Amino acid sequence: MISTSLENRVLTIRFDRADKKNAITNEMYTAAEQALLDSVENNDVRVVMFHGEGGNFTSGNDMASFLSMATMKQPPVLTFLLALARFPKPIVSAVNGLAIGIGTTMLAHCDYVVASDDVRFKMPFVDLGLCPEGGSSLLFPRSMGYAQASELLILGDFFDAQKALHVGLVNKVTAADDVLAQATRVANTLAAKPPAAVRNAKAMLRQDYLAKLDEVVTTEIEQLCAMVQGAECQEALAAFAQKRAPDFSAFA
Ligand code: COA
Repeated sequence: MISTSLENRVLTIRFDRADKKNAITNEMYTAAEQALLDSVENNDVRVVMFHGEGGNFTSGNDMASFLSMATMKQPPVLTFLLALARFPKPIVSAVNGLAIGIGTTMLAHCDYVVASDDVRFKMPFVDLGLCPEGGSSLLFPRSMGYAQASELLILGDFFDAQKALHVGLVNKVTAADDVLAQATRVANTLAAKPPAAVRNAKAMLRQDYLAKLDEVVTTEIEQLCAMVQGAECQEALAAFAQKRAPDFSAFA
């Protein structure tokens, strides 16, 4: 589930479903989106910080939710991603354990990311018969270059915190037991700054791609939902449920 707490004008949004490695369900997207939307006009919130309970950031989209998502006009993952991409105040993430799928792509919308030195990142969209999401098809080649983006988004292997630092997905790597403290320190520092100047700087840094981002985030999720119903994704989801390796050998 999602839990939140507000301290020193920093709203912490936690992925809190440890038994499923914090896999994100439709209900969790909706709760996180609402927390973001509520924070936009709330002067008591100057910074949002994301974190995962139980030793992991998130194992990404809940595998069982893909099918229901695919038939919705506005899937909660889409409205969450749009709220995240449009969020006008600083976002800090404290990333630990697993950061899979949206657990990696959402970092492109953060203003400061602290990762533990044992984080395992992965964007397994292609292996699931799906496509990139979260604006990553626009932002990743733009920020890290095509070679790195295709390695991470098409080859899609696990990668570590040093690689994430190298490609500019995270700002700082630290010991696992220090991640939350370091991220909280940065969030508190940001929250003490003149808030209008901070928002203005954030808007300026993103001005050349922000208008396009809405369209890309929306198109990616539309394609992803269409692909969920395809045979390749069906095989990948069945393999996960049956705890076996997928077999794509028969597909053209
Ligand atoms: N959705 C739903 N359940 C998930 C999940 C997800 N994304 N990730 C993990 N879980 C569940 C597992 O099914 C398992 O449930 P169970 O105890 O009822 O069998 C539990 O969380 C623990 O996961 P497990 O696979 O046993 O842990 P692991 O350490 O061996 O592997 C992962 C962890 C994350 C590598 C593996 O679970 C995985 O590949 N998950 C899918 C990640 C993914 O593709 N996400 C979608 C991104 S778009």
